[in-house]
Amino acid sequence: MATKHAILVFGSINLDLVARVDAIARPGETVLSPRADSFFGGKGANQAVAAARSAQGTGITVTMAGAVGPDPFGEACLSNLKDNGVDTRLVKIASEPTGCAFITVDQRGENAITVASGANMALQADELREYEAAPFALIVLQMEVPLEQSLAAARWVKESGAKVLWNLAPAPPAQQRGRLDEILAIVDFLVVNEHEALAVAAALGRSEAEQPEEAAAFLARLHDLTCIVTMGAKGAIAFEGSGSRTSVSAPRIAPIDTTGAGDTFVGVLATGIAEGFPLESSMERATFAASQACLMLGAQAGMPWRGDLEGSSNKI
Ligand code: RIB
Repeated sequence: MATKHAILVFGSINLDLVARVDAIARPGETVLSPRADSFFGGKGANQAVAAARSAQGTGITVTMAGAVGPDPFGEACLSNLKDNGVDTRLVKIASEPTGCAFITVDQRGENAITVASGANMALQADELREYEAAPFALIVLQMEVPLEQSLAAARWVKESGAKVLWNLAPAPPAQQRGRLDEILAIVDFLVVNEHEALAVAAALGRSEAEQPEEAAAFLARLHDLTCIVTMGAKGAIAFEGSGSRTSVSAPRIAPIDTTGAGDTFVGVLATGIAEGFPLESSMERATFAASQACLMLGAQAGMPWRGDLEGSSNKI
């Protein structure tokens, strides 16, 4: 029996090593940075933390299904999830090392990321079977753990009536593009950035789409889902299969680090959906939260808590 207010995030957990640079290195180039800092990251963990912070005090629970290594990074990542109110009973300790992301951030706050997946690749949908029936109202997925396992988890949770929110990030590599129809067939809410919207639409035969909005409208129609495109400083726009659209703007900010902004959007959107908020206000809160996340270095450092989001639709 699905619990109305329970969110499951099935995804990656990383430790991020972040260096600020004047300009991101090109292939073959070496650039210097004064220092590297470590932060908690991984798209799955970031989304779980954003959801839990925005759900603080509401009774909505956020459970993370993931895998870390038997190492100090893994212990620290687990403690961080717990400190943020995320239920970690479905995080397993695998034999591979904890996932690690190497991130450079330039002066404009833009980043380049390489993820060493490690333990994330050991995540299996079977870990969920400790429940007789999935007690979740919403499952949130991304593209940093094995696709087969994500599909199995989504199907299993959906069987008990849950909704599926899939953030197709990073954009699927060429060898997984043949699986896109299979993924989108079980998705209720698809979240993509502009680049991902175009890439996915092109892989599904709409290569002439020049604008992300056109690509998103195509995807929404093709699989009768809600496709939401995040567009950074331009806000976000959603298309329904019926053709209706909802757009929200973003507050003007001077970004320090955009890492985790998309994850913040997804986590806060998930809470809004679980709370039963209308799509527009859920998107407004998510867009505001994502902008706040860009004001501090590190994916999770600037993510707002529930109290910071009150009245956020008036702030954009
Ligand atoms: O979306 C940002 C995240 O991508 C980082 O925290 C990094 O770990 C990678 O997974």
